[in-house]
Amino acid sequence: MRAAEIADQLTTVLVTEEEIHAKLEELARQVEADYEGKELLLVGVLKGAVMVMADFSRRLSRDVTIDWMAVSSYGAGTKSSGVVQIRKDLDTDLHGKHVLIVEDIIDSGLTLSWLLENFASRGAESIEVLALLRKPEAAKVEIRSRYVGFDIPTDFVVGYGLDYDEHYRNLRDVAVLAPHVYS
Ligand code: PRP
Repeated sequence: MRAAEIADQLTTVLVTEEEIHAKLEELARQVEADYEGKELLLVGVLKGAVMVMADFSRRLSRDVTIDWMAVSSYGAGTKSSGVVQIRKDLDTDLHGKHVLIVEDIIDSGLTLSWLLENFASRGAESIEVLALLRKPEAAKVEIRSRYVGFDIPTDFVVGYGLDYDEHYRNLRDVAVLAPHVYS
């Protein structure tokens, strides 16, 4: 669905589907150039990264391998704890691999911070991050992300994989959810 079809549930469209696709095209060319002559493993972080992985990976004019991880916050039960539990681990041995982590969004940065450390301990040759969206003002930890699509404000956004209570992941655009939906 497009944002216009659920306009009553949204306040602002931040990034349209067309803008996302143009950006992914640009990022695909950069990644192709940067990894020329090297094997590349894309790792998607479930569930939000499903859309960006599907659209980004198919824009690459080269072969890659793809794997997935599912993680969730652990301990205090809040994302801000920064402690992550693996719900589904990789099927791939990272030793000696060039890894590009594909994410829908960097919010506090805590998930990626943990993942980067975890992957480094598994002996990856190189680890970089591609994130479609980033909320610079929400950063609790600085993430060195080589490929970033769009910086956005800290509003509650949905769409293109991002959910509210598992809803709106199938929205094609990225938009701010109207407060009446969640309050
Ligand atoms: C989202 C997103 C990132 C993480 C970013 O996942 O996909 O993985 O949050 O937040 P952070 O920078 O504050 O750590 P979420 O935990 O909502 O799970 P989901 O992808 O299954 O929706």
